[in-house]
Amino acid sequence: MLRKSDSDKLTQTGPDTPMGRLFRRYWIPALLCEELPRNDCPPVRVKLLSERLIAFRDSDGRYGLLDEFCAHRGVSLWFGRNEECGLRCSYHGWKYDVAGQCIDMPSEPEDSGFARKVRLTAYPLIERGGVLWTYMGPVEQEPPPPEWEFATVPAAQSFTSKRLQECNWLQAMEGGIDSSHVSFLHRGDLNSDPLFKGARGNQYNLSDARPVFEVVESPGGLYFDATPTTENGDYYWRITQFVMPSFTMIAPRGNHSVHGHFWIPIDDERCWTWSFDYHPTRPLADAEVAAMRAGKGIHVTYVPGTFRPLANKDNDYLMDRAAQEAGRTYSGIEGFAMQDASLQESMGPIVDRTKEILVSTDIGIIMARQRLLRAATALDDSGATPPGLDPAHQRVRSAAIVLPPDQPFKDGARTVLIAHPGVAPASV
Ligand code: FES
Ligand SMILES: [Fe+2]
Repeated sequence: MLRKSDSDKLTQTGPDTPMGRLFRRYWIPALLCEELPRNDCPPVRVKLLSERLIAFRDSDGRYGLLDEFCAHRGVSLWFGRNEECGLRCSYHGWKYDVAGQCIDMPSEPEDSGFARKVRLTAYPLIERGGVLWTYMGPVEQEPPPPEWEFATVPAAQSFTSKRLQECNWLQAMEGGIDSSHVSFLHRGDLNSDPLFKGARGNQYNLSDARPVFEVVESPGGLYFDATPTTENGDYYWRITQFVMPSFTMIAPRGNHSVHGHFWIPIDDERCWTWSFDYHPTRPLADAEVAAMRAGKGIHVTYVPGTFRPLANKDNDYLMDRAAQEAGRTYSGIEGFAMQDASLQESMGPIVDRTKEILVSTDIGIIMARQRLLRAATALDDSGATPPGLDPAHQRVRSAAIVLPPDQPFKDGARTVLIAHPGVAPASV
């Protein structure tokens, strides 16, 4: 269990909160590039860390992420006209550039110069790996651009999607570092999902529901291993990465793509679950990408025109009791992503952590919370640079390996936990 004050600290990410200040020190994914597909395309509403923003792409292809509301009298710029290198408010025509600077105030005398004095809050948007990333913190503290491997491999090797998740970011992320649920909740899918099936590791996973867990501190966060045994007494290590503030990467299976998530707060009761799939050394096959688009693996299908999953809380996630009874799915919900999200949303928007009963398999969750709390406190107390900002902290990989029982995994796994370009992932 967690003290209420610590739970509040971890779950609240608005502008004037400790965790909000921590999140604002990182580049975080804000939009998919495809949401702003061409110059002067319609602007897109973006809410991040409880701030309402508007994203647009100007006539020169530059991206802007501004306060959603016009400085004049607060009209939403979503109604604005994106034209001639700026976003023009539809009420009285004030116009802003990608830096938030007001560049035209047609209702005022031409020589007043007043426009120059008006500027909206604006954050940078940079493109990497098909994702537009933003940095919402102090300008002078802006870190180097993100170097997560999924965002730096050639485009043909990577696929990223995002989905709305209707609960606080932390309980969503805690699912990403809790690998003990795999052999229960996901057991029906390990051998049938096209992006998971066929791996030898699946059998180790399914045959041992009582793995041992260890947690190790890494420069940027933590990594966790779960160790079921194999048929001849060797250990099957599944190593999950957590990098601050909310990047998780689960162990790969066979020659399938490697995958993981970013858990980004929209506000305190909703988050974006970003799901990436990539292979460090080969392009994704057409069939793999088609499966990802069809909601297989860690991806979902959507309510048309939105990023809300088609299976959502308003339709009980399309619960199929017959499939549950027959053992085709453990919970009755289809697909890894919504199996996770349905249960995490079922806890309520912000789970009451003062009532939880944690056990040995929750050690990863406990340590991740401590790491986050420590970093947020150190940032506020002494301005300490948070872990995970250094691009070297971001060049990590998850791994799945089999080692003899007398070989410590920290030695056996050391090199495979670093993303070396062109080197195949360690996978079983
Ligand atoms: S409210 Fe935007 S120009 Fe008046
Ligand atoms: Fe899961």
